[in-house]
Amino acid sequence: MEAERCIVRNGRIYTLDLEGGRSVYGEPLIEIDHAVYREWIPWRSKMAALLKKEGNAPLPEGDLLYLGAAQGTTVSHLSDLLPDDTIYAVEFSRTPFRKLTALSKRRGNIIPILADAFHPETYRMIVPDVEYLYQDVSQKDQVGMLLRNADIFLRKGGTACLMLKARSVDVTSDPARIFGKVRAELERGGMKVKRMIDLSPFQVDHAAFIVTGTR
Ligand SMILES: C[S@@+](CC[C@H](N)C(=O)[O-])C[C@H]1O[C@@H](n2cnc3c(N)ncnc32)[C@H](O)[C@@H]1O
Repeated sequence: MEAERCIVRNGRIYTLDLEGGRSVYGEPLIEIDHAVYREWIPWRSKMAALLKKEGNAPLPEGDLLYLGAAQGTTVSHLSDLLPDDTIYAVEFSRTPFRKLTALSKRRGNIIPILADAFHPETYRMIVPDVEYLYQDVSQKDQVGMLLRNADIFLRKGGTACLMLKARSVDVTSDPARIFGKVRAELERGGMKVKRMIDLSPFQVDHAAFIVTGTR
């Protein structure tokens, strides 16, 4: 029987290590029935925070476009979950990109792309239509970036997850107000907001927006 790819033990989330026992960012490893799992830490990864807040949140499926990959902390767990799919991981800063590239050399399902996610036309030739779009950048126009990428890459019926950092949008406003504005902006942009989840206390002033495209 194949091992489960994502499990919860004693309130902690783990993914089945695609590398068979190698910590990526210092996360603890555990062994269950001869399979090695890596702890998915909610203070380090917003996707893990989302799963802690909403245990029944659906996990991504299919090819995935990831905007703001950094050195690949969250990407590595998605890579554990999606061994037969491809993660197109976009990052524009060279320092984390070097670690992301090293990670991709050990894991065949990650394609690292050094690019500015505000300009999706620059990686249009590399990335196909995807089932899932994940965005985690600390930038002002996070909705604009998501809409531009969804328009080009998100398959009809696909899901997008926007990890919004309120303080990057506006440092002075109340985060709850910003979350409301962002919801309205996404809807004006033609997206359907299915869920909005506040990620505190794991990620303070952050919310996850789970949306579907309408194209
Ligand atoms: C909060 S960190 C991402 C952490 C990562 N998602 C994780 O959970 O492992 C945000 C990243 O977005 C990147 N970023 C910001 N603006 C970007 C842009 N326009 N295009 C691509 N990457 C961008 C930053 O360089 C940074 O590495």
